[in-house]
Amino acid sequence: MEVIIQPTAEEASALAARIFGVLVRSKPAAVLGLATGSTPLGLYAELIRLHREEGLDFSKVTTFNLDEYLGLGPEHPASYHHFMWENLFRHINIRPENTNLPDGLARDVATSCAVYEERIRAAGGIDLQVVGIGSDGHIGFNEPGSSLASRTRIKTLTERTRADNAPFFGPAEEVPYHVITMGIGTILEAREVLLLGFGPRKAEALAAAIEGPVSPMVPASALHFHPRTRALLDEAAAVRLQRGNYYRHVFANKPVWQRV
Ligand code: GLP
Repeated sequence: MEVIIQPTAEEASALAARIFGVLVRSKPAAVLGLATGSTPLGLYAELIRLHREEGLDFSKVTTFNLDEYLGLGPEHPASYHHFMWENLFRHINIRPENTNLPDGLARDVATSCAVYEERIRAAGGIDLQVVGIGSDGHIGFNEPGSSLASRTRIKTLTERTRADNAPFFGPAEEVPYHVITMGIGTILEAREVLLLGFGPRKAEALAAAIEGPVSPMVPASALHFHPRTRALLDEAAAVRLQRGNYYRHVFANKPVWQRV
């Protein structure tokens, strides 16, 4: 896993957007794996800027999101459908029919999950998947204990994750107990993975994922099985890493041909 530490979340987000931009320019019909939460907001703002100011073209791009709350329709303000339209899709020239999220209103959840996996396969697989990290080390909504080979399926949230996500819901609203999420096995099939982690709240989970043993108890640690994963952190999220100086040294001394 390549670990890149940037001074601030803004700089890390700009670098992440450059990585996406390079891909979309070299492969206009790229398949992007997207994430929600506060972490990718800077990345999406920068992609919107690249679209508006530098002509980054999303007209042939296809997207697949990691997860969705069960029971929430696309119009619900806390649904990930709504999040993606508000924070990215409506600001760029992506075709609505090329955007994909798990169906939060699925009646037959198992079939709906199998169909989602099939859609990813039919699109040729995901070229670049961005993931955030939960404070308990989850990716997507793969909570601790998730099978490292898991596929898209229903999961039950931990109380900690429900509490972490409560700010996205109204004060009188209950955070759903169930979600649909791509599995860890699904995520590991993307050709490239970008793990984003910002701020002190993520420092412990990131240290466990990056420098601890691979374990289902820290789902993000499974990314060590992926040959092309980059972890992009700000300094605040990197404080618990033991080898921070080495990662900074590697990044500062990259061969020219490897630089973004
Ligand atoms: C939710 C999402 C994850 C996200 C996590 C962290 O659980 N399903 O994909 O990584 O929240 O959210 P935030 O970026 O807001 O800290």
